[in-house]
Amino acid sequence: MTAGDHLDALRSYYERAEERERLSRACGALEFERTKELIMRYLPPAPAVVADVGGGPGRYALWLSALGYEVHHRDVVPLHVSQLEEERGDLPIETAVGDARSLDLGDGSADAVLLLGPLYHLESRADRVVALDEARRVVRPGGHVFAAAISRWAARHDAILLKRVYRSVPETLALVAGVERTGMLPPVSPGSFFGYTHRPGQLRSEARAAQLDVVSLVSVEGAASLLTDLDERRQSAEDWEVVLDTARATESVPELLGIGPHLLATCRRGIE
Ligand SMILES: C[S@@+](CC[C@H](N)C(=O)[O-])C[C@H]1O[C@@H](n2cnc3c(N)ncnc32)[C@H](O)[C@@H]1O
Repeated sequence: MTAGDHLDALRSYYERAEERERLSRACGALEFERTKELIMRYLPPAPAVVADVGGGPGRYALWLSALGYEVHHRDVVPLHVSQLEEERGDLPIETAVGDARSLDLGDGSADAVLLLGPLYHLESRADRVVALDEARRVVRPGGHVFAAAISRWAARHDAILLKRVYRSVPETLALVAGVERTGMLPPVSPGSFFGYTHRPGQLRSEARAAQLDVVSLVSVEGAASLLTDLDERRQSAEDWEVVLDTARATESVPELLGIGPHLLATCRRGIE
């Protein structure tokens, strides 16, 4: 696939406009809540400057801006930029179409950079390291870069174990074995999600290749992502806290890092 074809495929996937609601339910809600708490462990207090690169329709940008942060949002899909423009109301979020590999943001201009999406879609290691290197350039010395990746085993857990897609698409079983070998996730059915999946050590190695210090590398959702009744559990404060606590208790266990769908590397730009 040429770079232009890849971008067209990415835009047409996201133009189905499902991304806007993804973090509002089930495992997406767990991802959102956990990612926010993981970010908050390292983010300086507001008002600080945050670049949200690959920010999608802007759930994190809206959350941070409402807390008083100065947010600069970039995404390669124009629809996501216009969705955020519609939703931001009076919040002073600056947004534009932009590619994580070549940002129009100044050197050291942000106190923190969110990179919660581009690494899912950049298929070559060289491109992923360029995106991480751009994030390092944009963050100030001593600032943090939060880089998310999809776990290598996410497709098996989601498409095979949870959704039993092999019943309607038998080739899914072989396809998932290929994902685990190569990392490349093709669409399981026409028009479905496609991207790149990481082993935990690979994410660590790519961040290091971009001269970032990896401060922590965790599973965002952990084993709770395998529960089919997460929305019901969210209705009970006690049940939801147990879900979150389980994710916290197991987030850094090396043997369990790949069990949830997302990995989060918190990285720091050294002080030169
Ligand atoms: C699954 S969405 C995640 C959106 C949001 N950050 C979140 O976590 O909810 C992945 C996002 O990365 C964006 N993206 C993919 N490749 C990119 C690139 N090279 N530069 C900028 N954005 C990119 C996509 O357009 C999409 O909005």
